[in-house]
Amino acid sequence: MTVRVGVLGAGTVGGALVNRLLSDRDAIRLKSGVDLEVRRVAVRDLAKDRPFAIKADRLTDDALSIVTDPSIDVIVEVIGGLEPAGALVLAALRSGKPVVTANKELIATRGQEIVEAAKRAGVSVMYEAAVGGGIPVIRPLAESLAGEDIDVVSGIVNGTTNYILTAMAKEGRSYDDALAEAQRLGYAEADPADDVSGRDAAFKTSILASLAFGERVAPWEVESEGIEGVTADDVASATEKGEVIKLIGSAQRGIDGRVEATVKPLSLPGDHPLAGVNGVTNAIFIEGPSVGRLLFTGPGAGGQPTASAMLGDLIQVASRGRGPRTGSAHDPRPRRQVLHR
Ligand SMILES: NC(=O)c1ccc[n+]([C@@H]2O[C@H](COP(=O)([O-])OP(=O)(O)OC[C@H]3O[C@@H](n4cnc5c(N)ncnc54)[C@H](OP(=O)(O)O)[C@@H]3O)[C@@H](O)[C@H]2O)c1
Repeated sequence: MTVRVGVLGAGTVGGALVNRLLSDRDAIRLKSGVDLEVRRVAVRDLAKDRPFAIKADRLTDDALSIVTDPSIDVIVEVIGGLEPAGALVLAALRSGKPVVTANKELIATRGQEIVEAAKRAGVSVMYEAAVGGGIPVIRPLAESLAGEDIDVVSGIVNGTTNYILTAMAKEGRSYDDALAEAQRLGYAEADPADDVSGRDAAFKTSILASLAFGERVAPWEVESEGIEGVTADDVASATEKGEVIKLIGSAQRGIDGRVEATVKPLSLPGDHPLAGVNGVTNAIFIEGPSVGRLLFTGPGAGGQPTASAMLGDLIQVASRGRGPRTGSAHDPRPRRQVLHR
């Protein structure tokens, strides 16, 4: 069975994904039994160089034309941001096409509307890559741990800030110096505001919290603080105490039963499971009464790792066909307002 894929966006993640799909098509088919054909790719600038070779007539700057193309079975969204990504994802779902996305901002902000549109159309929306890049954590949380009464989910979910804090702790750098180094190495954007302010981590924490506790935790409900205020002195005094400062996204139930989600720099004891996670590496820690402590760690960003997670989603969606899912990770639980399941 050949599944024809339309990819919206071909930047860091989309470029790596299209490259994998083109170069490993046979290997993917042999391993998964699914033949994934990149039918068309949408970009903003047709003149830009791409890390893959595709016939010119398969590249377009009209993303909607891919969504409405009857010869395309599945849509991959890697444009990012709320719009036009949101309208494109909803249009795809409403026309009965499953969607795979890496868009944390869109899923955190409009996940409920998107999941409901998918349910109404009887198709899937999958977003493993939206949190933790290449780390499988969305499906483990939504499916493998569906029966666990999770106590806490917490994690280092932003590689840029973890790189900066690690450089401050291990190399004695100032915040500004560490940020400049992260930008030089391509770990931080020219405008790092979303990372250093905790905004990016709040999107991811909102998604993790919603999945872990089975109820909606919107990004604006995540009490957030970034790392701009962390000084070299703060880092040095933590080190003296055998502690380490990390930007931690965390969620647990408060005594009133409500889910409390936060993103803030915390000084962790040296033996904490997240204390030894350094550089751009991400890690998500989950604890529950039956399962105990789990730690998922690995590359939280980058084209290749993120494309790997998306490819897994794509194979899952493609092998399921276009029929309705049953027992799915995205089915809302009864009686609760659920965002991401
Ligand atoms: N980068 C990572 O490591 C990473 C990790 C996990 C998740 N994500 C998520 O993955 C998504 C993509 O991130 P990215 O880093 O790959 O972004 P990116 O490098 O900026 O790529 C965005 C792509 O979208 C295209 N695009 C923008 N507006 C468009 C439009 N209106 N129509 C068609 N194409 C359009 C751009 O075209 P041009 O190339 O022509 O400009 C570009 O190819 C985001 O949601 C991000 O949060 C990224």
